[in-house]
Amino acid sequence: MDSKPTTSPAKSITRDDSGSLDRTLRPETWEEYVGQTKIKENLRILLTAARERGHAAEHVLLYGPPGLGKTTLAHLIAKTLGTNMRTTSGPAIERVGDLAAILTNLSPGDVLFIDEIHRLSKSIEEVLYPAMESGVLDIIIGKGPSARTVQLDLPPFTLVAATTRISLLSAPLRSRFSGGTFRLEFYAENEIGQILSRSAGLLGITASPDVVRNIATRCRATPRTANYLLKRCRDMAQLEGGDLSSDIVARTFALLEVDTLGLGAPDRAVLDAIINKFGGGPVGLNTIAAATGEEQSTIEDVIEPYLIRQGLLERTPRGRIASATAYSHLGSM
Ligand SMILES: Nc1ncnc2c1ncn2[C@@H]1O[C@H](COP(=O)(O)OP(=O)(O)OP(=O)(O)O)[C@@H](O)[C@H]1O
Ligand SMILES: [Mg+2]
Repeated sequence: MDSKPTTSPAKSITRDDSGSLDRTLRPETWEEYVGQTKIKENLRILLTAARERGHAAEHVLLYGPPGLGKTTLAHLIAKTLGTNMRTTSGPAIERVGDLAAILTNLSPGDVLFIDEIHRLSKSIEEVLYPAMESGVLDIIIGKGPSARTVQLDLPPFTLVAATTRISLLSAPLRSRFSGGTFRLEFYAENEIGQILSRSAGLLGITASPDVVRNIATRCRATPRTANYLLKRCRDMAQLEGGDLSSDIVARTFALLEVDTLGLGAPDRAVLDAIINKFGGGPVGLNTIAAATGEEQSTIEDVIEPYLIRQGLLERTPRGRIASATAYSHLGSM
């Protein structure tokens, strides 16, 4: 007997979590990719020159906090070169054989995108060096005295790598990105405004300039967060059966505990720990991690960069220090 589904989908249900949100709102062209003008200009010259010469472009390293547009840039690079992009990530390449399989399966001119490249193991880095530099793969066959090295020629390719932790990359690896190493910057408010207006259009919602400005000031200067907040405000408006008003936005922020500077609960917990438990600092990263229950890497990659940018936190050789602004911000809440 056929078992019938007990519930029928209310409307056409589409996957709509933040993963697919990233994809639907991801810029498809350089015009849609807002800001980062210096990087765009550098890449335009690099890519156009390579394409005109008919060569694969040189390798590029992109770094910066999460959600600033590294993966999006990698897609645009492949699109501009008119080639396929193969995507993998540092933790996914566990053995030398994994990397060898990926490299030997590339077509000439392909872009290989390695996300989280700081998580590649040393032994795999060693295989990557000659591949990046000379386009060859050194394979060791056998063990002991009878072992010999076989060298395979690889198709020319462009490695685009992304990381949130440039400091974890070894110097030899860093130096092999001959096309350039680019740091993505936090976005200005008007740039976030442009991103939000485009996203609102794609999502089929109307967002007034006030609403856009409101979200732009609270998104940690990060496009992914801006899009996330816009969607959460839209959800609230939908449930309330009304427009996306400033009131709805304020209530969404209150619910999500996003404050006037765009800080969330984890950001405030870090500042609060430094100020109220450790006299304002200096205090070491591991101590802050223990006091807040956050991973050290989360504090370093996600929380700290924005706090530093906002002048709320200082990183010194002796540890982290809360600024006067941090005291007044926490005090004012
Ligand atoms: N310059 C930009 N213009 C417009 N939208 C952007 C821009 N940069 C990022 N976005 C939006 O933010 C989303 C997240 O960007 P992306 O996935 O490229 O970030 P990332 O730097 O790769 O983050 P992570 O380090 O977490 O992988 C994109 O899907 C896109 O919607
Ligand atoms: Mg990414």
